[in-house]
Amino acid sequence: MNDTANGSTLGNKTALRRELKRRRRTLSLYQQKQAATNLCQRLKQLPEIRRAKRISLYLPVNGEIDPTRLLPWLRQRKVSIYLPVLRPFSVNRLWFVAYREATPMVKNRFGIAEPCPRFAADKRNRLPAWALDTLIVPLVGFDKQANRMGMGGGFYDRSLAFMRQPGPTPTLIGVAHACQQVDALPIEPWDIPLDVVASDTMIVRPIKTG
Ligand SMILES: Nc1ncnc2c1ncn2[C@@H]1O[C@H](COP(=O)(O)OP(=O)(O)O)[C@@H](O)[C@H]1O
Ligand SMILES: [Mg+2]
Repeated sequence: MNDTANGSTLGNKTALRRELKRRRRTLSLYQQKQAATNLCQRLKQLPEIRRAKRISLYLPVNGEIDPTRLLPWLRQRKVSIYLPVLRPFSVNRLWFVAYREATPMVKNRFGIAEPCPRFAADKRNRLPAWALDTLIVPLVGFDKQANRMGMGGGFYDRSLAFMRQPGPTPTLIGVAHACQQVDALPIEPWDIPLDVVASDTMIVRPIKTG
């Protein structure tokens, strides 16, 4: 992280993150349930989801919209499901571990449930991000061009940095509450763009220029 060279952007981003996190935390349980239902209805219609065979999603915390209602539908379709896990010995990087009914879970240092280290250590139970075809990623903010603001750790940006090189490029689907949308987000060179954002009320795709 380069705080000094980038001071003003960083300050703006921190304040914006705080505000957007506040918005989603203030949603009632009922609003959360409604949003999750509406989101999953939209996701089931998305061609990117309908063709997925190996997909990752996340378990929601801190007011994040809940994508897990998709699980029974995905399992019925024989889609392999993975969860992000904090990689040991690797700063702010994720790998993706199989999430089956019998997967043993523990809480990580952020208090988020994830497949336990022993299970994740077995290579047969996990995939690197490039081997997934679709990732459902959480976000703190998104804009009209489907740009993403995350929690500030750059976890997905680092784990997906390979997408700048030639080779496999999984589809990235950001999911969020409608209240997490802003007009335009500050974008940094390392930010990996999303293919689409799905919220409880809309689908946003970047408009390609040039
Ligand atoms: N590919 C990468 N390699 C190394 N550091 C990275 C990479 N991507 C992001 N980062 C670092 O992660 C930090 C957080 O990134 P940022 O995009 O602000 O967070 P988020 O994507 O979680 O909103 C940045 O300060 C940046 O230096
Ligand atoms: Mg980023």
